[in-house]
Amino acid sequence: MTGPTPQTAASAAVQLPVALIVAATHGSLGIGRAGTLPWRLPTDMTFFRLVSSAPGESSCQPAVVMGRKSWESIPNKFRPLKNRVNVVLSRTVTDFGSGTHTFSSLAQALSALSRAPHPASTIPPVSSIYIIGGAEIYTEALKHPATSRVILTTVYADEDAVRCDTFLPDFRRTGEWEQKPTADLRRLLCEIKCREAVDLIPEDGDRVRENGLEYEFTLWEKR
Ligand SMILES: NC(=O)c1ccc[n+]([C@@H]2O[C@H](COP(=O)([O-])OP(=O)(O)OC[C@H]3O[C@@H](n4cnc5c(N)ncnc54)[C@H](OP(=O)(O)O)[C@@H]3O)[C@@H](O)[C@H]2O)c1
Repeated sequence: MTGPTPQTAASAAVQLPVALIVAATHGSLGIGRAGTLPWRLPTDMTFFRLVSSAPGESSCQPAVVMGRKSWESIPNKFRPLKNRVNVVLSRTVTDFGSGTHTFSSLAQALSALSRAPHPASTIPPVSSIYIIGGAEIYTEALKHPATSRVILTTVYADEDAVRCDTFLPDFRRTGEWEQKPTADLRRLLCEIKCREAVDLIPEDGDRVRENGLEYEFTLWEKR
């Protein structure tokens, strides 16, 4: 008799929806420069805040999972991120202060979030899990079997002008992921009770234009 593979076992252990939410350049999937974001896109920041804090049907908050460097790039006054269960991954630091939960591996974090509330942990129950960067965490999460969606803001930037030094692996070309129509993204946002974010998506397939850049909100799902 054959048992579950390690991949299906890992996926089965995580019962919550797991999605990446990320803004990246269209060409090389650049996401960062010098430890920070390479652009200032206020509408995208609002979209990120609304989606990653939408509770959906439940009365629980979503969890946001980030690497130590991304945590450090958030200004003190904005962290922990409001209305979200903040999870920080580090192999060197064990405590990032009140309002955070720290793990030394992504697998441990996803499994603890799935089991919450658990008598052995202080994590509250969560409605869903958003992986919010940076590149190291995105790279690992793209390989994790429980990750089923990427909510990608595609930024049509001149790569020489934005000069990113941090990149996502090009998941679009692996054949494992499929871009869904914008209508599916709107439907998903309605399902998670995030109508305000729907209103940020231009009606006619147009791009958002801000600070000299054009960008669009896209949805990718694992095939
Ligand atoms: N465009 C976007 O949407 C977006 C979103 C988020 C971030 N960013 C950008 O991405 C850049 C940061 O990305 P990054 O890749 O340099 O750093 P990161 O992924 O944010 O953090 C890396 C750190 O996380 C910890 N870590 C990584 N993998 C781990 C694992 N499997 N288990 C436990 N801990 C782990 C390690 O911390 P220790 O060294 O403490 O062990 C590592 O040094 C910044 O420029 C930021 O602005 C962009």
